[in-house]
Amino acid sequence: PVKVTKICCIGAGYVGGPTCSVIALKCPHIRVTIVDLNQARIDAWNSDDFNLPIYEPGLEDVVRQARGRNLFFSTDVDKAIEEADLIFVSVNTPTKKSGVGAGFAADLNYVELATRRIATIARSNKIVVEKSTVPCRTAESMRTILEANSKPNCRFDILSNPEFLAEGTAMTDLFKPDRVLIGSLQTPEGISACQSLAQVYANWVPKECILTVGLWSSELSKLAANAMLAQRISSINALSAICEATGANIDEVSNAVGYDTRIGPKFLKASVGFGGSCFQKDILNLVYLSESLHLPEVAAYWRQVVDMNEYQKRRFSQRVVDTLFKTITGKRIAVLGFAFKADTGDTRESAAITLIKDFLSERAFVNVYDPKVVHEQIWMDLQEASPLVPLDNIKKQVTISPSAFEAAQGADAIVIATEWKEFRDIDWERLYKGMNKPAFVFDGRLLVDAEKLTKIGFKVTTIGRPSPLLT
Ligand code: NAD
Ligand code: UDX
Repeated sequence: PVKVTKICCIGAGYVGGPTCSVIALKCPHIRVTIVDLNQARIDAWNSDDFNLPIYEPGLEDVVRQARGRNLFFSTDVDKAIEEADLIFVSVNTPTKKSGVGAGFAADLNYVELATRRIATIARSNKIVVEKSTVPCRTAESMRTILEANSKPNCRFDILSNPEFLAEGTAMTDLFKPDRVLIGSLQTPEGISACQSLAQVYANWVPKECILTVGLWSSELSKLAANAMLAQRISSINALSAICEATGANIDEVSNAVGYDTRIGPKFLKASVGFGGSCFQKDILNLVYLSESLHLPEVAAYWRQVVDMNEYQKRRFSQRVVDTLFKTITGKRIAVLGFAFKADTGDTRESAAITLIKDFLSERAFVNVYDPKVVHEQIWMDLQEASPLVPLDNIKKQVTISPSAFEAAQGADAIVIATEWKEFRDIDWERLYKGMNKPAFVFDGRLLVDAEKLTKIGFKVTTIGRPSPLLT
């Protein structure tokens, strides 16, 4: 197998940035160049004060150690392609917004453009690694494009190496992955390319955690893993609705169920609904794949995981309205958290966006506070969620607050949308004093001690527990 000495990563986003920074840190003998067409993003990666374009605990430390040593960020895509012997394609693959498969299928345009660029520029053999999450058999299309456009004596080997990191814990996930999955064609050349990439990871990942499989299994395993993770959340969220109606407590149910070693305790936390750039997109992608393979029952089965998530978000905002005496018109709601989960500034598909949209359509006022999300992002997301409402009108109803305390001032209710630790440890008595009475808390993340807050005077409503007004 070829010994990799130069890596290029196309796409300096949430996956390409952290993944290849860690490769650079752990493999000082490999020169890693991460490229992107987005100049502002690359400038941020290169910024003197390490004001990186994404917030991820521990990332800055890694970039500080490796940047300028064997880690480089650049917009010179062609040069990095030309020099590299291994190229990661880590570009975005969002859900298609129009055309065939709109709303379901993955938009593979960015993958194709990056692949065509590699074909045009490459003058020597390259191992091309599909890092983006893609539908099953995308590697075949990439190979066809590369081979149809390649220079003589220039061979391409395609690998699939899906990424399993979760945002907020990306660095620990990358340092100690449950597994690294590498898919290749089962030809001598394919297996040899697979070994080249495995050798890179072997610098810090134990050999038994590096799984090598066929290309199509690797591509499908990524969609399967995300679908099954999301399915657990939708299952527990479906049960949370039963808990609210019966007096059972979802935390107790999750705990009891998770003790079964076949089920396990992780990823069973009821919530206001899963968000993030991956779960919904990848399940819809799997639904589309199933439909195109004429497997409508399989498609319907996975579709239900997304439907249940939509139901959970709707049910939660309805519960807020019902509890606040069936109207929130003119009332002020403090939404704590805007990111799709704690420890990230990422807001893609965040449940908070849907909740705020619902509150605005009930003509409530919203104060929103998040410790990491930049203000401009909040305005962009709210505008995108309500495209027909002018931003000025949205701004009349929404205030971005500089702290949880200020968000709660003059509010009728607090809605916890993200499980930031600071919301649990906050001085709740102080928040209570500044609010209209009765003061309500809606805990969409099972974050706060409901009993303690009730003692302060709050009326607390928690996901997966019956409403206080009913008990
Ligand atoms: P992202 O949008 O943060 O980053 C993608 C980057 O690629 C962007 O900066 C974009 O400018 C750049 N890009 C697009 N086309 C390009 C081109 N032709 N040349 C150079 N740069 C180009 O996306 P992300 O969150 O990093 O996700 C990337 C892929 O990884 C997706 O397929 C996603 O499904 C998958 N994934 C994401 C996560 C996650 O937690 N975000 C986890 C696992 C897998
Ligand atoms: C996910 C996968 O976990 C990761 O392996 C894949 O590479 C990318 O997609 P990510 O979306 O970053 O990662 O975060 P994750 O921790 O999976 O959370 C996704 C959503 O589910 C968040 O909104 C989170 O709050 C929610 N969630 C998670 C729950 O509601 N309950 C849980 O028990 C776990």
